[in-house]
Amino acid sequence: MRGIILNNAYSGIADSQSERLRSEFLELGVSVDIVSNKDLSTYTTELGGIASSFDADFCIYLDKDKYVLKALELLGVRTFNSFQAIEDCDDKMMTHLLLTRENIPMPITIPGLLCYRSEHEIQLASVEKIENKLGYPIVVKESFGSLGMGVYLAHNRLELFRVMEKVKLKPHLFQQFISTSFGTDVRVIVIGGKVIASMKRQSATDFRSNIDLGGVGTPFDLPKEFEKIAIDTATALNLDYCGIDILFGENNQPLICEVNSNAFFAEIEKVTGKNIARTYAEHILSKLK
Ligand SMILES: Nc1ncnc2c1ncn2[C@@H]1O[C@H](COP(=O)(O)OP(=O)(O)O)[C@@H](O)[C@H]1O
Ligand SMILES: [Mg+2]
Repeated sequence: MRGIILNNAYSGIADSQSERLRSEFLELGVSVDIVSNKDLSTYTTELGGIASSFDADFCIYLDKDKYVLKALELLGVRTFNSFQAIEDCDDKMMTHLLLTRENIPMPITIPGLLCYRSEHEIQLASVEKIENKLGYPIVVKESFGSLGMGVYLAHNRLELFRVMEKVKLKPHLFQQFISTSFGTDVRVIVIGGKVIASMKRQSATDFRSNIDLGGVGTPFDLPKEFEKIAIDTATALNLDYCGIDILFGENNQPLICEVNSNAFFAEIEKVTGKNIARTYAEHILSKLK
């Protein structure tokens, strides 16, 4: 059985995650290669088939490059996570829409309107609808953001206009600000439908609790309702592996903030002492039997 761990061609962002996974696979007696997708060629052929320089039975996909991922699946490679799961999580608005099928609690979320040209002006009628539904402050997110970088907080109409102008040509969403969760959330790792680790993340300086923006992780004993919502979410999106962000609503009600199909685990391994890489490797091998 041949497996690879696939990384983005341009960034080395998942290098240490790849090494951790490879070493745990080795301890389990399985050798996997770390490959960048620049070293692969996949293409459709004149005869309507698909070809690749790639030869493996399974692939741990640490990138979000959807074309290579789809090509691998069409070639019959078992990918972790699957194409569909990565696609559904990569787009935050799509994630929220799909979770409604399972009635999973989340902040009120409104899709941003598609705008094709920079000279088109922000629509006041749409601004008024958003204000009336959400009230200030309003969270605005780029649908394809990560590490807190595409998440904004608008406190009034002027700020909202500024943010809308900034994001209008990209897919985005508007969201109810959960003030009871200011600067705080819970990160939960779910593998194979089981909660493996959880930590609280707290920022002293920002409404976003992302570690990259200064948030600090501490171990957190997950209450039953948080565990249930995390498992329901991972199951609804068919995720083998994920990191789920959960906000604290009124009376500590858990609300799904977002789902990361490609969550980094270095920090949560450090904070909780849990061996995430080993658990993921064992899950993958059990699925391949
Ligand atoms: N609706 C919200 N109410 C309060 N805080 C929020 C809300 N949405 C996001 N946040 C904060 O911003 C952080 C980043 O948002 P998130 O949707 O997880 O984007 P990213 O993919 O960039 O991490 C969250 O971890 C949380 O601390
Ligand atoms: Mg997040």
